[in-house]
Amino acid sequence: MNSNSPRASSKGIILILAFMLINLYGCRQLEIKKTGTADVSLYKKYESYFSVGAAVAPKHLSSVADILEFHFNRLAAENDMKFGPIHPAAGRYSFSNADAIANFARNNSMTMTGHTFVWHRQQPSWLFSGLSPGNTRDIETLKNQLKNHIETLVNRYDDVVDNWDVVNEAISDTGGKTYRDGSEGSEWYRIFQSEEYIYWAFKYSQDALAAKGSNAKLYYNDYNVTVPSKLNKILSMVQWLRSRGLRIDGIGLQGHWKLDWPTLSDIRSAINKISTAGLEVKISELDISIYTNDDWSTHAWEAEKAFTEQLETQQAVRYRELFMLFKANSGRITSVTFWGVSDDATWLDYHPKRRNDYPLLFDDRHKPKLAYYAITDF
Ligand code: G3I
Repeated sequence: MNSNSPRASSKGIILILAFMLINLYGCRQLEIKKTGTADVSLYKKYESYFSVGAAVAPKHLSSVADILEFHFNRLAAENDMKFGPIHPAAGRYSFSNADAIANFARNNSMTMTGHTFVWHRQQPSWLFSGLSPGNTRDIETLKNQLKNHIETLVNRYDDVVDNWDVVNEAISDTGGKTYRDGSEGSEWYRIFQSEEYIYWAFKYSQDALAAKGSNAKLYYNDYNVTVPSKLNKILSMVQWLRSRGLRIDGIGLQGHWKLDWPTLSDIRSAINKISTAGLEVKISELDISIYTNDDWSTHAWEAEKAFTEQLETQQAVRYRELFMLFKANSGRITSVTFWGVSDDATWLDYHPKRRNDYPLLFDDRHKPKLAYYAITDF
């Protein structure tokens, strides 16, 4: 078609109009102003839709106590309820950090997410030591340890934990393989020589909750849940558990996301698909990294950069879009939990390499960022 044709010029006008609209929208977004105070409580803002949580370490309970009390009605232990930290030796538990977090939650009428019974990381070495892959007696030993571990944690924290990440990240990202196996770091799979340990984790959890008369929910939690091939594997695991008579209540979508990934439509489709399968959804580990140019296939990481005003605005717009989406799907989403509170303490400063990131709602000095206003002021 000739570019001077009437169709080409009307297409041009439509493009210009679309561009003006996008700009107008952008400007409206830019009208978000930082007032310096954070006087709208985050959890109250979303109370009728879902609970709002933060993952914490004991140090947060003093360093950002006021932020936690005012803005959050849910806590998760970022590390302190994981198998290694809480159960460092056979028959010996180390409850003090988890207890401090649970007591803070109890004292402030918050609920907790229990994170996590079974993961391939932060497992204590004693748990697998001396066990041979596929050996029936050794598998029984491991099952007994798991049962004892789950019962102990459920008994201790059931009054404050309303959902447990029973299994975390057990699905493989590799094409053609459903479950993370020994070659991808799962000692659980290596000893069981199969995914059977997932069955036992859900079984012991379900039994422990039933013995307590507990209403706590059982979740599977993972990253990349918005990738359709991974979600399909997760849903086939759900079917497998159900076919064996077990209950699974929901899927946690770890929101370790970026300014430009995943798309809103991919998040929406994942939520739809999970809820169509009769499962609850939670956004379990939300933080928005400013690094968008890492190449995971070659491990070429973007160099450290400054958190410019432009990036702060981009992040605020992104957070707003996400919360609009969460709100629109609130009937399906039970909670949204940030993976941290403020930018001075985020795992992303060390991952995938040492470089400062700025993924949360509060800055290094614990002051509200534009993103905070973007999700409390609409
Ligand atoms: O704080 C120290 C720092 O002082 C030290 O210089 C540095 C050296 O490596 O380590 C820093 O601590 C690290 C800490 O993360 C920082 O946040 C620990 O070594 C490291 O073990 C710890 O990692 C935790 C990680 O799980 C372990 O795999 C992160 O805290 C925790 O946020 C992360 O959480 C996981 C979820 O449980 C599951 N989903 C993914 C998520 C992120 O990996």
